[in-house]
Amino acid sequence: MKVALLTSGGDAPGMNAAIRAVVRTCVYYGIEAYGVQDGYKGLVEDNLRRMHSFDVGQILNRGGTILGSARLPEFKEEKVVAKAIENLRRRQIDGLIVIGGNGTFKGAIAMEKQGYPVVAIPGTIDNDIEGSEYTVGFFSALDTSMEAIDKLRDTSFSHQRCTVVEVMGRHCGDLSIYSGIACGAEIVVTSETGFDEKKILDQIRNARRSGKRHQVVVVAEHMTDVFELANKIDEYTDYEARATILGHVQRGGSPSAFDRVLASKMGIWAVELLKDGKHNLATVSKGLHVNSMSLSEVLTKDVDKPNMYKYLEKLT
Ligand code: F6P
Repeated sequence: MKVALLTSGGDAPGMNAAIRAVVRTCVYYGIEAYGVQDGYKGLVEDNLRRMHSFDVGQILNRGGTILGSARLPEFKEEKVVAKAIENLRRRQIDGLIVIGGNGTFKGAIAMEKQGYPVVAIPGTIDNDIEGSEYTVGFFSALDTSMEAIDKLRDTSFSHQRCTVVEVMGRHCGDLSIYSGIACGAEIVVTSETGFDEKKILDQIRNARRSGKRHQVVVVAEHMTDVFELANKIDEYTDYEARATILGHVQRGGSPSAFDRVLASKMGIWAVELLKDGKHNLATVSKGLHVNSMSLSEVLTKDVDKPNMYKYLEKLT
């Protein structure tokens, strides 16, 4: 049996741990593993290489992805997908494992629609795969944002300022709400809370009047311009405000223990599913427990993720 694997979309800490687990599990079962360079782009360009156990040594703790990643909007076109499948079939590769987020999963669904066996592993800092409680990379990115916001809080306190900090997550507020809870933010703005500027300014003004030295406002990307918001806070409240965009720093760095273990378990599962003739599936997490769910359900199925907003409201 031959299995190919790729990482696609925004990279996430723990992708390398998943690659290692896939390759080592293939070796364990006598399956030939092939790494695809730079995501779906490499598949279309037939840029694959055989991978052995030693190729994935010393990568468990490394950020990024040794296979490279890319976004390929053209992968929505049927003929581009067909080209990728043709390349895999010519090499007699029996199945593909993709590691990535929402866009990567849509590519996997498109391949399955054309009859090619795929298993997907959720790997993204956004935590935006509905059917999986956690995605590989989410908790590592959370550690990074927590460390940064803690530092911003230190200087905010010293200078009696209001810090407005933008956190990544594309259209998912999980990284922001978890960061808010982990760092004791006074306000968190995500698509789930909505952006009510007047309410936020009033809340900050009242906090100042009640004697609070500083405020931390976490804003999920795409919700508003954090620099404009900081200017308004300067204008309407008695706090001096500063804005910071954490940006791509959240995507890099060594994966947390949680992500290493989750990625390892999911990598093993993915190979075992293909080996047993099962595909059109994603590996999903309930905490550290791993299971599988059909690709058609995993992007939409609500798996009763914990509602962190109800915690935040009791903590501020
Ligand atoms: O999907 C991961 C992510 O980091 C999102 O949080 C963010 O919106 C996006 O990727 C940024 O994409 P790029 O690296 O292409 O600028």
